[in-house]
Amino acid sequence: MSRGDIKIFACRAGKPFAKRIISELNKILESTGRIVNLGKSKSVSFADGEIKTVIKDSVRGKDVYLVQSFINTNDLSVNDNIMEFLLAANALKRSGPSHINSIIPYLAYSRQDKPKDREPVSASLLAETIERAGIEGIITMDVHSDQIAGFYKNIGFDNLRASMTLINYFKKHKSLDDVVVISPDAGGAKRAKFYAKKLKTDMAIMHKNRNYEKENVVEKTSLLGDVKEKQALIVDDIVDTGGSLVNTIEELYKNNVKTVSVVCTHALLNNHAKEKLDRLYQEGKLEYLAATDTIIQKNNPKWLKEVPVSGLFAQVINNMNMDLSVSELYEQ
Ligand code: R5P
Repeated sequence: MSRGDIKIFACRAGKPFAKRIISELNKILESTGRIVNLGKSKSVSFADGEIKTVIKDSVRGKDVYLVQSFINTNDLSVNDNIMEFLLAANALKRSGPSHINSIIPYLAYSRQDKPKDREPVSASLLAETIERAGIEGIITMDVHSDQIAGFYKNIGFDNLRASMTLINYFKKHKSLDDVVVISPDAGGAKRAKFYAKKLKTDMAIMHKNRNYEKENVVEKTSLLGDVKEKQALIVDDIVDTGGSLVNTIEELYKNNVKTVSVVCTHALLNNHAKEKLDRLYQEGKLEYLAATDTIIQKNNPKWLKEVPVSGLFAQVINNMNMDLSVSELYEQ
């Protein structure tokens, strides 16, 4: 049974991904004669930095989905984009929808998920704030750690996996001879194990020594496992400044690896990540970095391959709308 009309809205940073979802959703809905368009809304930033969102279409009794990207965009910071999401969610909630869910393809602040001396547990605080905005659930992808789901105590939390999509991309573009799956740190070992099992290959782990006195600094990386004359596939959830990745690749070549390919879910590529990876590509040390479109890049360098996942989000919306299982879509 359908929950009724689907309405998809997007905040400013979420519009490109929302348009992709809508195009995929309309393919799913084609046989039903239903068509979904992007809901009309307007967000403005005032001179003092405040933001306001106005919903222009009626949502009363509708099955609503709000899409937002928690990333830095040209003129809006990640924090602006989170605030705009909260305000839009509140505006929608107050307008009488029958259901309101949200799509946050990359959930920022997820790396701040554990208590440390005099530091916030930002992921938990963000969860409480999002819950207060009044939505029923979050649909996201490859959130940094499993414990984040537990921070959302009162609303749904659907964490989709990019693994099978990325594995299929890798299989299509590489022979599976002498492949070794690499996790850039101990935290990613479970993910790498999953890839190694699906690809029927060995795995190795990097040991990463971070300098927590300095932001974004990885000081030393050492390897546990054998990569000699092998084709390495590095698997990570996030590539941010590229520091972890560059150290991992350099260490693999010190250990006589044959080739290196990389797959990751969220290619944030902040600071000088693109320049660093460009250099490795020019030196022949990086074949490609395949990343999903949870972060849509403006200009794709030659080595950056986009692997779309908007179709998976569209399927989730369709299943929710039809009151069908969503968890069965997690590992596609
Ligand atoms: C760490 O636990 C994550 O899985 C990533 O490896 C890390 O956040 C990437 O950050 P960066 O690219 O700045 O080293």
